[in-house]
Amino acid sequence: MSQQTINFTLNGVPTRVSVPVQMSALEMIRNVAGLTGTKYGCGEGECGACTIILDGVSLNSCLLFAVECDGRQVTTIEGLAADPVGLRIEKAFVEAGAVQCGFCTPGMVMQARQLLEQNPHPSREEIQRGIEGNLCRCTGYVKIIDAIEAASKE
Ligand code: FES
Ligand code: FES
Repeated sequence: MSQQTINFTLNGVPTRVSVPVQMSALEMIRNVAGLTGTKYGCGEGECGACTIILDGVSLNSCLLFAVECDGRQVTTIEGLAADPVGLRIEKAFVEAGAVQCGFCTPGMVMQARQLLEQNPHPSREEIQRGIEGNLCRCTGYVKIIDAIEAASKE
C-alpha cells in the first residue's frame, strides 16, 4: 500500500508522520501518534466514540482518512488538558456521575466541547440535539446532559 507523509498540528504540536493512504485518521491517531484516548467503537460513523475536532469542527475520525489531516489542526481528548473549557467539561462529567464504563466519554466530551464553542449556554434540548450522534449504552444520557449543562453554567 502506498505511503504518504503528512504534516499537521496535533493538540498544538507540529507533527509529521508517514501513513498508508487508506489509513483512517482514527487509526493514525491511536496507532501512529500513540494517543489512545480517542476510541474505536463502530468504525462506521454511528457511535461518536472516535470524535475529534478538525479545524474547529467535530467529526468522526473513523470516517476521515489520515491524509486528510495534512496541513490542518487536529484536537483529540488529550488536547483538552490544555483547554479550560475542556477541563471544566471533564470535571462536570465526573461530578455528575456521567462516566460509567467510560468508553463513550472521550467522544462525548469532545462533542460537548464543540457544542459549547458554538453555543456557550445551551438549553437541555439543545444539549440533547448536540450529542445525538454520540451513543452511550450505560447512562441513559440524563447524567451526561446534566454534566454539560453544569459545565455551561460555571
Ligand atoms: S468509531 Fe467512529 S463513529 Fe463509531
Ligand atoms: S458510559 Fe458506558 S457507553 Fe457511555
